[in-house]
Amino acid sequence: MNQQTKGGAIVTGAASGIGRAIAEGLSLDGFSVLIADLDEERGNLAADEIGAVSGAQTVFLSTDVTQRDQVCAAVARCQDQFGNIKVMVNNAGFNKPEPFLNASEEMWHKILDVNALAVLIGTQEAAKAMIADQVRGKIVNVASITGRTGFADHAPYSASKAAVISLTQSGARALAGNGITVNAIAPGVVATPLWEQLDIDLMEMGVSSAPGEAIAALEKEILLGRVAKPRDIVGTALFLSSEGSDYMTGQTLMIDGGMILQ
Ligand SMILES: NC(=O)c1ccc[n+]([C@@H]2O[C@H](COP(=O)([O-])OP(=O)(O)OC[C@H]3O[C@@H](n4cnc5c(N)ncnc54)[C@H](O)[C@@H]3O)[C@@H](O)[C@H]2O)c1
Repeated sequence: MNQQTKGGAIVTGAASGIGRAIAEGLSLDGFSVLIADLDEERGNLAADEIGAVSGAQTVFLSTDVTQRDQVCAAVARCQDQFGNIKVMVNNAGFNKPEPFLNASEEMWHKILDVNALAVLIGTQEAAKAMIADQVRGKIVNVASITGRTGFADHAPYSASKAAVISLTQSGARALAGNGITVNAIAPGVVATPLWEQLDIDLMEMGVSSAPGEAIAALEKEILLGRVAKPRDIVGTALFLSSEGSDYMTGQTLMIDGGMILQ
């Protein structure tokens, strides 16, 4: 049990997968954590379970990260309940593969809205609150290896993650004068519900023919010999949320087990 508080932290998309693991890590590290996610059932469960493990205040707020008013409400709740917002983790995201020649406008807009526009909105609204409260805050964005190298069946997703890397650089330049750092983490292949759905989608597209085949093929390209678990991402996220990274900004750290080496 950790009763100290280092301030408020928002983790978007933390009802599941990587976000949930980061929320738990921040909570155990002494932050009061607000989970901002669309999924009310899993979001509330995550808040309850994380709070029970860490002893720190952990709350859920139903939030669509593509809607500025809802993000503002999450930031205001964090300030009101926890005193400030010290850390913003823009993690919410999703993917829906389509063959490159059939990649649709509909999916482009959906993916770019959640994976990229929401990172801009989340960074803006968290930074406004940090500046108002004179908090030297930390923004941590979740990019992907696909932001460094485009994948044929994931064109909008890859583009959205390249946008996250670029937004991280723009935000770093904009906010350095306020003492706010903006960095990103770029996971490779992480075993989460996102990948469970991707596995089904890739089978439906005929890219793979059996459950687990697509991920097994990628696993062969990972130097460290296995796909990641959500907890493999936590240490770097905590580092970028801590004073240890105070002299870093605008950076994207690859956490891919040595997959693309870019
Ligand atoms: N799993 C991987 O292999 C992998 C690799 C690289 C990057 N990523 C990125 O990591 C992040 C987390 O992915 P994950 O694998 O944990 O996925 P996940 O599906 O387990 O979790 C994503 C969460 O985001 C939430 N979400 C989706 N749209 C939302 C919205 N509009 N508003 C609020 N919440 C929303 C979902 O409800 C879900 O709880 C994403 O940005 C993803 O692109 C994942």
